[in-house]
Amino acid sequence: MRVLLTGGAGYIGSHTAAALAERGHEIVILDNFANAERDVPARLERLTGKKIPIIEADIRDVPAVVAALREHPVDAVIHFAALKAVGESEADPLLYYDMNIIGTIRLLQAMQEANVTRIVFSSSATVYGQPDSSPILEDFPTRVENIYGRTKLVMEDLIRDLARTKKLKAAANLRYFNPVGAHPSGQIGETPRGVPNNLMPYVSQVATGERPHLRVFGNDYDTPDGTGVRDYIHVVDLAEAHALALEHIVTNDVSITVNLGTGEGTSVLQLVTAFETATGRTIPIVIAPRRPGDVSSYYANPALAEQTFGWRAKLNVEDMCRDSWRWQASRAGINDI
Ligand code: NAD
Ligand code: UFG
Repeated sequence: MRVLLTGGAGYIGSHTAAALAERGHEIVILDNFANAERDVPARLERLTGKKIPIIEADIRDVPAVVAALREHPVDAVIHFAALKAVGESEADPLLYYDMNIIGTIRLLQAMQEANVTRIVFSSSATVYGQPDSSPILEDFPTRVENIYGRTKLVMEDLIRDLARTKKLKAAANLRYFNPVGAHPSGQIGETPRGVPNNLMPYVSQVATGERPHLRVFGNDYDTPDGTGVRDYIHVVDLAEAHALALEHIVTNDVSITVNLGTGEGTSVLQLVTAFETATGRTIPIVIAPRRPGDVSSYYANPALAEQTFGWRAKLNVEDMCRDSWRWQASRAGINDI
């Protein structure tokens, strides 16, 4: 297949590009580089051994997206391009409505104009808000707890509506749990701008000495060790899930909404211990107050993905820590893995 990846130079998009290329698919990347390093395309070409067309454009620019789709006729689009910071979304709701919701509408218009009728979409477990219980199944109620989460729900609904009214032949809403890790080649990984919000990049930067310690946000949650529990998923497993979901919906012309997680909950302290074991580095911690808006615990029931397109996560938390560290260490010029 030939596939256009919006946001394909970003963290999850670049890993998915590598997974698709490995399975013999052709990739076209459309990205405005608002949150991507300029050297990602060259790194991807080194990794895949393939020339990858890169279109520098904004998904809201319908003529540019139509032109890209006409120049590179594709079987499907995988739609990663979005803004993803919860705090920023609460500070600037209109920015998020514009980039995420209007951006998705413009992309869907461009696809319709270019007669591209299949899409895989990056949704998030954030659509479940604070769940009543875990493991979370896809038919659990959705809840909006912040502007970012609202945009994800609206984007899912837009895509579902177009599938229901047959404007799209096939669509996959993929609800990611907590993606972490990096490609084992060390060529691609996550490069957060400024101080990382998320746990794994923060821990990795403590390990390089860029930050003195990890603040553990709360140790009085109703969890086995009192710290927050999440379902971390290796980005390489996540990337493979995109390839399998894409192949499934394009072959069968069906629309699906599925969780992508491992089904395992890991606490902050467990992740820190796993990181120390996998890397031999010590991570100093300081217990800090709970972070406003944080959920105590959630993890996926990932059975539907396995039933539907035969995917299950293969990599464990140690693999995630080791690969995150390899990437972060090489960025920091540390050579000990
Ligand atoms: P990322 O920021 O690394 O990648 C997004 C890419 O989209 C970037 O390369 C950016 O330059 C590009 N982009 C942004 N706005 C654009 C626009 N208007 N036009 C063209 N390109 C644009 O983020 P990521 O972590 O790879 O996330 C990818 C998707 O997965 C996002 O939709 C995100 O909301 C979703 N998601 C991410 C996580 C996570 O924890 N990383 C969890 C759940 C869902
Ligand atoms: N944590 C710390 N210290 C830190 C960072 C995080 O203790 O410096 C803790 C958090 O309190 C939480 C856990 O580590 O218990 C994971 O936090 P992350 O920020 O890595 O992940 P979240 O689950 O809070 O957020 C992620 C995405 C959001 C998305 C949300 C729900 O970053 O975009 O999942 O899907 F909305």
